[in-house]
Amino acid sequence: MQFNGAYASAYDAERDSKPGWMAEHHAVADWLKEGSVLDCPVGTGRFIPLYLGRRLPFIGMDRSEAMLEVCRSRFPAARLLTGDMLATGLPDQSYGTLVCVRLLPWLTPPEMAEALREAARVAGRAIVSVRVDKVGGAVCWRGSLTHAWDEFRFAVQDAGLRVADIRETAHSPVGRFLMTLLEPR
Ligand SMILES: C[S@@+](CC[C@H](N)C(=O)[O-])C[C@H]1O[C@@H](n2cnc3c(N)ncnc32)[C@H](O)[C@@H]1O
Repeated sequence: MQFNGAYASAYDAERDSKPGWMAEHHAVADWLKEGSVLDCPVGTGRFIPLYLGRRLPFIGMDRSEAMLEVCRSRFPAARLLTGDMLATGLPDQSYGTLVCVRLLPWLTPPEMAEALREAARVAGRAIVSVRVDKVGGAVCWRGSLTHAWDEFRFAVQDAGLRVADIRETAHSPVGRFLMTLLEPR
């Protein structure tokens, strides 16, 4: 999937009225207690107003320059980095909370496990979304993956984390959309 200019500029308008979008915002707002925040992938910066409102220091990281460009145009003062959630290059335990929303469907099961290990390494807690219910990573819309719940759960455990809270934010024929709060075991 290419997160290019056309995708990036239409991103929010195509999604912000869809079921699940506000439910994801509520979960992040309810669970985010501790900064500083690493938001990866930050995308167009949908959660940045929340960090600013709470005066939480944050950085946004994304692999797509096009998405970062849209984010930069909305929040010129934000600290934004190009980077990869599988290998952020950030120091161990350098963030209080990682916010990682709508990334896992774009990762294979082994990549998901790697991203969760990286989450545990760089942050104390993580707020992570995942779409589950198909066995073995079924390919869906635009090539995204619906993961098996057990695969996600094992990857969380393997990373030394546990699911401390969970919310279903939407339900569709391609799976259940979950927000999870992950904490060290
Ligand atoms: C569906 S968007 C989600 C953005 C934002 N978190 C949100 O909820 O709107 C997926 C984002 O993941 C980014 N991405 C994909 N693979 C990545 C990776 N390995 N590391 C960092 N960002 C990645 C894409 O560039 C894109 O901005």
